[in-house]
Amino acid sequence: MKFATKAIHVGQGADPATGATIVPIYQTSTYTQDRVGEHRGYDYSRTINPTRVALEAQLASLESAEYASAFASGMAATAAVLNLLSAGDHAVVTDDLYGGTYRLFSKVLSRYGLEFTYVDMSDIDAVRAAIRPNTKLFWIETPTNPMLKLVDIAAVCALRVPGQIVVVDNTFATPYFQAPLALGADVVVHSTTKYIGGHSDVIGGVAITSNKALHEAIKFHQNAVGGVPGPNDAWLTMRGAKTLALRMREHAHNAQLVAEFLEGHESVKRVFYPGLASHPQHELAKRQMSGFGGMVSFVLEGPEARALDFAHRLEYFSLAESLGGVESLICHPARMTHGSIPHEDRQRRGVTDGLLRLSVGIEDANDLIDDLQRAIAATPLSTVPA
Ligand SMILES: Cc1ncc(COP(=O)(O)O)c(C=O)c1O
Repeated sequence: MKFATKAIHVGQGADPATGATIVPIYQTSTYTQDRVGEHRGYDYSRTINPTRVALEAQLASLESAEYASAFASGMAATAAVLNLLSAGDHAVVTDDLYGGTYRLFSKVLSRYGLEFTYVDMSDIDAVRAAIRPNTKLFWIETPTNPMLKLVDIAAVCALRVPGQIVVVDNTFATPYFQAPLALGADVVVHSTTKYIGGHSDVIGGVAITSNKALHEAIKFHQNAVGGVPGPNDAWLTMRGAKTLALRMREHAHNAQLVAEFLEGHESVKRVFYPGLASHPQHELAKRQMSGFGGMVSFVLEGPEARALDFAHRLEYFSLAESLGGVESLICHPARMTHGSIPHEDRQRRGVTDGLLRLSVGIEDANDLIDDLQRAIAATPLSTVPA
């Protein structure tokens, strides 16, 4: 089965109880048992729910994997994977990563005795140098958020020794454009809130693997800690994921046109998009990804005030956190998604006060470009106080 077929068929056979063609929302917390200890595989919905089971089968198949565990958010999925570590263990982490992941690692899990080293993982020597005797996990985000730097997944996997695992947050690329497990990773994590759900109407996360022991450990923590999605959210996510292939083709098409427009504009200082030949890792992008995704970051000429003024003048790009929905969004990472990272760290990572991040939606690309053009023209450098 090819990708688009799996998205619509895997885990989604007719309902055995009624024949319903679409997987029902099993809005139940518990299941009536035939006799004490005799049930039909379902006992309590934190542990197992048929709607969630269908979503897990669908998402595992999209990563060509054996197993998936769905969570109430991307952060809950991330936390469950980090539950695989114990006090005293160390992880090597992509330095340019989602601010909430940084917050979980640095402000929460470090209090539980886990150690983290943040490195520029696009530099494989830096990754090698960060490894310690107690290193148990490599946390890769690629493309990174918001700088859209790439990490060579296969090269990091080549450094791994038995007892260590490589985890890839594949939220930005999606399984449609990047297959981390095929490149050697052990676990893939997604915020399904983003492209997989695809309509900005549900929060969710998933951890996917083909390693049975890792799956069982993640499943154990899914049930023990309890960060599971309700059946309604599982169902919405599954519905969104059915059209992932169609949507990703449009997102990438529009993002390429938007990135090229911005790169050619005199008011734009820098554009970050893996699909541009000017991207420093364009060759790696072509090798590792089958498309370049829908995220574009850029820096406008001028002070922060200009970027902030520009951002609220757009008509079709809503000023909002998040990404990956059919509608276009713009955000100012330094003040929004990455506000929890100390100023100095942000500057070092390139998350400067003039940086803007676009989640390019699937509207008509000409309308999006006209909108950007209008907002730039309405914010001339000369009128902005320095
Ligand atoms: C790359 C990435 N990973 C993880 C997350 C966390 O996901 P959630 O918001 O669903 O908890 C996000 C959210 O923005 C993200 O962008």
